[in-house]
Amino acid sequence: MNRVYLKTYGCQMNERDSEAVAAMLRKRGYSIVGHENEADVVLLNTCAVRDQAEQKAIGKTGYLAKNKRNNPDFVIGILGCMAQNRGTELLDRLPDLDLLVGTQKFHRVPDHLDHIMASLKGRGPHPQTLVDLDEEDGSQNTIRAHNPEERRISAFVSIMQGCNMSCTFCIVPKTRGRERCRSIRDIVEEVEELAASGTREVTLLGQIVNSYGRREIPFRNGKSPFVQLIEAVNEVKGIERIRFTSPHPRGFKQDLIEAYRDLPKLCEHVHLPLQSGSNKILKAMNRPYSRERYRQIVEDLRAIVPDMYFSTDIIVGFPGETEGDFELTQEFFQEIGFEMAYIFKYSVRTGTPAAEMDDQVPKTVKEERNQVLLQILADRSLARNRALIGTTQEVLVEGPARKGEGILAGRTRGNRKVVLAGDPELAGWLVATRIEDATVSTLRGILVEKAFGKSPRCTSIMVSQDAL
Ligand code: SAH
Ligand code: F3S
Repeated sequence: MNRVYLKTYGCQMNERDSEAVAAMLRKRGYSIVGHENEADVVLLNTCAVRDQAEQKAIGKTGYLAKNKRNNPDFVIGILGCMAQNRGTELLDRLPDLDLLVGTQKFHRVPDHLDHIMASLKGRGPHPQTLVDLDEEDGSQNTIRAHNPEERRISAFVSIMQGCNMSCTFCIVPKTRGRERCRSIRDIVEEVEELAASGTREVTLLGQIVNSYGRREIPFRNGKSPFVQLIEAVNEVKGIERIRFTSPHPRGFKQDLIEAYRDLPKLCEHVHLPLQSGSNKILKAMNRPYSRERYRQIVEDLRAIVPDMYFSTDIIVGFPGETEGDFELTQEFFQEIGFEMAYIFKYSVRTGTPAAEMDDQVPKTVKEERNQVLLQILADRSLARNRALIGTTQEVLVEGPARKGEGILAGRTRGNRKVVLAGDPELAGWLVATRIEDATVSTLRGILVEKAFGKSPRCTSIMVSQDAL
């Protein structure tokens, strides 16, 4: 009766929320299972950023509802962004739902499930759908539970919730609410706990991380609250690498650029959402920067860290995007040279300003533009990966690769995926790896005989002799 399968759609933030829910449920005596067929309870943690993501979750719920015919005690819940976006209107389509929980109420899931379970056991009235979609003060402080039995070499840490911007295409301000941040102390404590349990890399998560603490925490020595936070995390022993996602080009200032020079654990990869290379479209999107400003940030970063890696988010087919606008995006995308990108076809989100705009772009055109950018991306990524052949890279070994006996998977500081042969005991080690081969997405390397010496960016390179 207490086996829960938790399925996550969407971004890293959702993954992190699901992890925290799973940890809280375990603590409450539920067991988390790896497949819906083994479960008494299925919870879908949903995404609302694009229609496709919503349709997937709705389809899945409809399919799962069939289980109720054989087993009336089977419980289905929808959590997160789609719950928040669509609210109780979802019940018209999905009357079998037992639970609907919004983005500020993840920490209430164990209580709600307990309640439903008690009712099913006949100790209470059979529940209607339990709906909890309200805002809650302090909910940003609730996503901090981790499962102590599960060692994560690389872990996400949620530093803030919500977004105060109003990009005209985006539903996130509606689903995630106003911006609220956790305290530096609280975040550092969580990172320390993670380090003690074996975590070596943390990725700090927020909708716009560089606006972290802008209202609550004063600048210190010309440094923004976000840079102060990274500095504090940089001090945590046992943590070797720091990443964050996503910053906004607005507010990507010199203090953050210099952090890449000054903080050895901050990895030389930045995910900086561009959305469009046309200033006209950026304006229509209500993105307060220009392509020139974006280029300047990239140049400033490359001036400090010549081997910086860049990834981005792009939307193709935003309303009013002409052939000329797209050419500007294409040209700029090529110019910057992104190693990784999420390229989205614009999806109409009811209630956002862009949904009402004229000149919606036909689906086929969006598809074509998507393909053009994907090809540029593949070429660039392959070229950058090939350039690493013959070099020795610091690789953080994350664990066994999905495919291949005795093969390990890890990442370079630039966030390139590496596979290499070695002992699974190497998980969590930073090893020197010589790159032998490269595809668009993956580098193949071998452990080198000895570490290539400590570069200033590298706090500890270790090679386990046993693994050689
Ligand atoms: N601030 C967040 C953005 C969250 S949404 C961040 O920077 O990580 C993630 C991405 O989804 C956005 O950057 C955008 O590229 C894409 N996106 C958002 N709304 C969209 C829509 N209506 N259609 C297509 N893509 C969208
Ligand atoms: Fe969405 Fe723009 Fe915020 S993309 S999450 S409204 S910065």
